[in-house]
Amino acid sequence: MYRKVIRPVLYRLGQGDAEVAHEQTLHGLRRLSRIPGAVPALTKSYGALPAGLERTVFGVRFPSPVGLAAGMDKNGLALPAWRALGFGFVEVGTVTAHPQPGNEKPRLFRLVESEAVINRMGFNNEGSAALAARLAEYGDLGYPLGISIGKSKVTPLEDAVGDYVTSLQRLYRYGDYFAVNVSSPNTPGLRSLQDSGHLRELLTALHDEARALTSGGREPKPILVKIAPDLTESAIDELLGVCTEVGVAGIIATNTTIGRNGLAPVDEWQAEETGGLSGRPLTEISAKTVAHINSETNGELPVIGVGGILDPDDAARLFDAGASLVQLYSGLIYRGPGLVRRINRKLASR
Ligand code: FNR
Repeated sequence: MYRKVIRPVLYRLGQGDAEVAHEQTLHGLRRLSRIPGAVPALTKSYGALPAGLERTVFGVRFPSPVGLAAGMDKNGLALPAWRALGFGFVEVGTVTAHPQPGNEKPRLFRLVESEAVINRMGFNNEGSAALAARLAEYGDLGYPLGISIGKSKVTPLEDAVGDYVTSLQRLYRYGDYFAVNVSSPNTPGLRSLQDSGHLRELLTALHDEARALTSGGREPKPILVKIAPDLTESAIDELLGVCTEVGVAGIIATNTTIGRNGLAPVDEWQAEETGGLSGRPLTEISAKTVAHINSETNGELPVIGVGGILDPDDAARLFDAGASLVQLYSGLIYRGPGLVRRINRKLASR
């Protein structure tokens, strides 16, 4: 139904501009979120979860381990609706301390034969203050919310820490976990924050702030680091050393790649578009990265596996590689929301 009927319509919107299809989808879901009773009814029917999917990871209870990856609903416009599609959690953002328009359009490209996407959105978002206001209006969403934070483009790299800390302060009370995005290829210099020195400074500051924001002797909320798939194994090991030393709650692996392997011949002409590649070309890389992290940390550091989940077997592979949770984005574009339901069913029957 999705591939034969809905997908061709979506792909034609805006004369084929992928960002128009994305916006229309998001606004449709936002409208749905506002119809009284619609989301609870859909959650009970379409989004019903088979028994046995719940799990507790880094102290947070997830109704299903299948989540929506960062970037789809950056500003949290349609948060109630995602649970109705079968997602067990959502990561909003990436948001930055300053609102910003992102890169010039076009900046989102579908590579259909490759089941891949190239994006150079550049953290277009309304800013962390606007997201905090929206989250305050929603109240309890009924599922765990991750909040991804990144650096504003106008903030020089040497002031990055303050930018991240500002967003954490504004959003702390609303998130169940926080994802520190140091791996987007679309903000100049951002990925250098994955280097040990920078990362230690950034994570220490965020942990100190989380502790300061936590009252009543409770544990600070989990902070996770999202990494690029383009790091060498030794760079990952170094990063893991810093993460363990500082006490992060987990790793999200992976963000989009700057590589261009795995494209179908008919899509090769699009390989030169600048940006991060996601979807099918990431399946292998993300599974390998998750497995590597898992073996390096003896399975002691929770990993959220993300990248190239286009069918339930891809998700199963990430769990087999050691992921505790998974997320997807491109799979939604190519397979529609039925994919989430199929993954949930497969996991329940394992
Ligand atoms: C992303 N992704 C992303 N990640 C992130 O941490 N912050 C962000 O703002 C974004 N933005 C974004 C926009 C678009 C258009 C895409 C396609 C992707 C990366 C995303 O969360 C995920 O890590 C990768 O896309 C790999 O997963 P899939 O898409 O292969 O399932």
